[in-house]
Amino acid sequence: MTVTITYEGAIAVVTIDNPPVNALSQALRQALMEAVFTTEANETVSAVVLACAGRTFIAGADVNEFGKPPVPPHLPEVVTGIERAKKPWIAAIHGSALGGGLEVALGCAYRVAAASANLGLPEVKLGIVPGAGGTVRLPRLIGVPAAVELVTGGNTIGAGKARELGLVDAVVEGDLLSATVGFAREASQRPQPQPISERSVPMVEDDFWSRTEKAVAAKARGEVAPLRALACIQMASEADFFTASAFERETFLDLRGSAQAAALRHVFFAERAAPRPPELAGVVPRHIRSAAVIGGGTMGAGIVAALRDAGLPVVLVERDAAAVERGLANVNQIFQGSVKRGRISADVAAERMRGVIGTDDYGALADTDLVIEAVFEDLAVKRAVFAQLSKACRADAVLTTNTSYLDPDEIGEGLAQPERFLGLHFFSPAHVMKLLEIVPTETTAPDALATGFALARLLGKIPVRAGICDGFVGNRILKVTRAQAERLLLSGATPAAVDAAMRAFGMPMGPFEAQDLGGLDIAAFQRKAARERGETPFAPVGDLLVSIGRIGQKSNGGWYDYQPGDRTPQLSNAVATVIAEVAARRPQQTWDKTAIADAIILPMVNEATRILEEGIALRAADIDLVEIHGYGFPRWRGGLMHYAQARGLREIVSVLDRLSSKGLSDPACDGLRQAADQEHPS
Ligand code: 3HC
Ligand code: NAI
Repeated sequence: MTVTITYEGAIAVVTIDNPPVNALSQALRQALMEAVFTTEANETVSAVVLACAGRTFIAGADVNEFGKPPVPPHLPEVVTGIERAKKPWIAAIHGSALGGGLEVALGCAYRVAAASANLGLPEVKLGIVPGAGGTVRLPRLIGVPAAVELVTGGNTIGAGKARELGLVDAVVEGDLLSATVGFAREASQRPQPQPISERSVPMVEDDFWSRTEKAVAAKARGEVAPLRALACIQMASEADFFTASAFERETFLDLRGSAQAAALRHVFFAERAAPRPPELAGVVPRHIRSAAVIGGGTMGAGIVAALRDAGLPVVLVERDAAAVERGLANVNQIFQGSVKRGRISADVAAERMRGVIGTDDYGALADTDLVIEAVFEDLAVKRAVFAQLSKACRADAVLTTNTSYLDPDEIGEGLAQPERFLGLHFFSPAHVMKLLEIVPTETTAPDALATGFALARLLGKIPVRAGICDGFVGNRILKVTRAQAERLLLSGATPAAVDAAMRAFGMPMGPFEAQDLGGLDIAAFQRKAARERGETPFAPVGDLLVSIGRIGQKSNGGWYDYQPGDRTPQLSNAVATVIAEVAARRPQQTWDKTAIADAIILPMVNEATRILEEGIALRAADIDLVEIHGYGFPRWRGGLMHYAQARGLREIVSVLDRLSSKGLSDPACDGLRQAADQEHPS
C-alpha cells in the first residue's frame, strides 16, 4: 500500500495505491491522515486532489478487518480531517466509490467523477450500516428520500444519476486526473463550500418515516441492516450532526459483530471465490466468441437472452421452420419484457434480436465455439441432437447439455471428442437467475470445464461445480424440501401455514406457492420417470392433485385456488379434502412457524451433508451459493450450510432424531453426526 503526494503547481495530488480495490485498511487510514497534515502544512498548496491508482477509487472499508477489533485512526476521524482541512480536497472518482470510499469523498469539498464511475453505500449488503458519516452527510447533500433509497437498498448509481442528485459536482468524459486538477485550480480561487456536516437536512412530509419504515421492512424480510440504516437517517434528520454521527457509529459497531453481518461477509467472499475454483488454477479455458442454443422453449429462449445480454452472437436451432419462429418469438418476448420494465431501450432490444440467427439447419454451427442443448428432457431426443452436433461442429467446440435430471454421461455416450462435453444447468428464468451448475462428466477435460466457468463469468452468473446424481446439487435438495413440505401436511400443517413459515424464515415464497407458480406437472413428470427407474419419490398429495388436473396457476388451481386473472392464492376446500383423505389415521400435531421451518430446512441440511460426503459438491460454501442463487435462500442467513454451522450441528442432529422417531424425516446421516461430535466433543 502506498499513498504518494505529487504536485501540479499549487495543486497537491494525493494518490492511493492499495490493490486490488484501494480498500481502507488501517495503514491506508493512517497514511491519509498524514497526507492531510502534510498538505495542510505546505504553504504552496492551494487545493488537494484525491485520486486512486488501479481499477477503482476507494471501494470501501477493508472487509477483512471486520471480524477483528477496530484499530485507530478510525474512518470517521479521517473523513472529518479531510472535511476540516483549510485547503479544499477534491475527489477524482473512477471505477467505484463505495461505502467508506464514498464517505471519504463526502468529506471532500467537491467530487468529480469519470462518466463510467459508479457510487453507492452498499453496507447493508454486508449486514452493516455506513460507519463514517454516510447516513448523516448524504441526506444533507442529496435530500432524505434519495439518501434513504441509496442507503437502505445498498445499490450503486452511475455518475450521470449522481450528478442529477447533486452527489457529484462534475462528470468527466476524458482524462479524469487532469480535468480534476483543472477543477481544483478553479475551486481554489473561490471561497470553500460549506462543509456538508454543517448543512441542514431538508424537511420531509409528516408521514414519511412511518410510510418508509413499512416499505423497507417489507423488502428486508428479516434482514436487520436496512431498518437500522433507516433509523440512522431519521436520527440525522432529527438530531444535530454529532449526535447523529455517534448514533450511526454505535449502530455500525453493533452490527459489525452480528451474526447477519458474518453470514453476509461469508457470502461476499464465497461469491468471489466461486468463479476461480482452486482445482482449475492455471487451466486455460477455450475461447468463447460465439454460441448456439438447441431448443428455443422456456430454457433455450432464456439462455439465448443471457448470451445476447453478454454480447455473444447466437445461433438458435429448432426442429423445423415453425418451431424456429416460435423460438425467436420466445426470445423476443424476453427482450420486450425488459423494455417494458425500463431495463433496456427498444433499440437495444432490436440489436439483441439482430444477433440471433434462427435455423433448423445444423450446418449453421460449423464455426460455433460453444453449444448449449436445451431440448425436451428425453434421453433419446437429446442423444439424437448430440449425434448431429458431433457431425456439424468443429472438433474443439465445447458441447453442453442443460438437462435437469438425466445423466449427462448417458447423454454424451458415443459423442465425438467426448472430452469437450459437460453439463451446464441453468435455472429458470435463465436470463435472470444467477446460478449455473457446472457438471463435468467422466470424460470432460479440464479446459472444457474451465470454459464452463469462463462462460459463467461472461454471463455474470455464479458458477458451482456439481457432480452427477439425480438433480445435481440444487434439485436434489429441492426434492427433500418438497417431500418434507408434504410430510408436514400429513401431520397437521396446512399449505398456507407451511408457506407462511417459510416466508417468515426469509424465503421469498413458500414451497406450495412456488409449485403453483412453476406448475406441478413438471415435478410429477419427474416422479413418474423416477418410479420407472425403481425409485419411490414421496408426494402423495401432489400426485393426487395432478391426477385431478390441479397443476397450479396455469390451471386456475393447484395447492391453492385462483380467480381467473388473479395470482393471489386462495385457500382451497378441494385441497383440504384431499389432504384430509391422505392424512386419515396418521398422527396429527400442532405446528408453529419455527417447528415447520425446522422440519423442512434441517432435512435439507442432512441431504446437503450427504451431497458433500459423496463429493457431488466440493465445498459447503458452494451449497450455500446454490441455495441462495437458485432457490432464494435468505442471503442474510449465509446459505444452508452456513446457517447450519451458526445454528449448531448438535442441535440439528437432535431435532432430526426427534423428527425421524415420528417418521417425519430421515435420521441424521453419519457425516452430520460426526461433524456434530467434532463441534462439541462430549
Ligand atoms: N475489502 C476487502 N477486499 C475487497 C473489498 C473490500 N471492501 N472489495 C473487494 N475486495 C477484494 C475481493 O475479495 C477480491 O479479492 P480476491 O481477488 O482476493 O478474490 C478483489 O477485491 C476483487 O474484487 P471483485 O472480484 O469483486 O472485483 P470486481 O472488479 O468485480 O468488483 C468492486 C470490484 C465493485 C469494488 C467489488 O469488489 C465490490 O463491490 N466490493 C465491495 C464493496 C463494498 O461492499 N464496500 C463497502 C464496504 S463496508 C464499508 O465501507 C463500511 C464503511 O461505511 C465504514
Ligand atoms: P420446453 O418444452 O419449453 O422447450 C424445449 C424446446 O426444445 C421446444 O421448443 C422444442 O421445440 C425444442 N426441441 C425439441 N426437440 C428438438 C430437437 N431435436 N432439435 C431442436 N429443438 C428441439 O422445455 P424447457 O423447459 O425449456 O426444458 C429444456 C431443457 O432444460 C430440459 O432438458 C429441461 O429438463 C431443462 N431445464 C428446464 C428447467 C425449467 O425450469 N423448465 C430448468 C433447468 C433445466
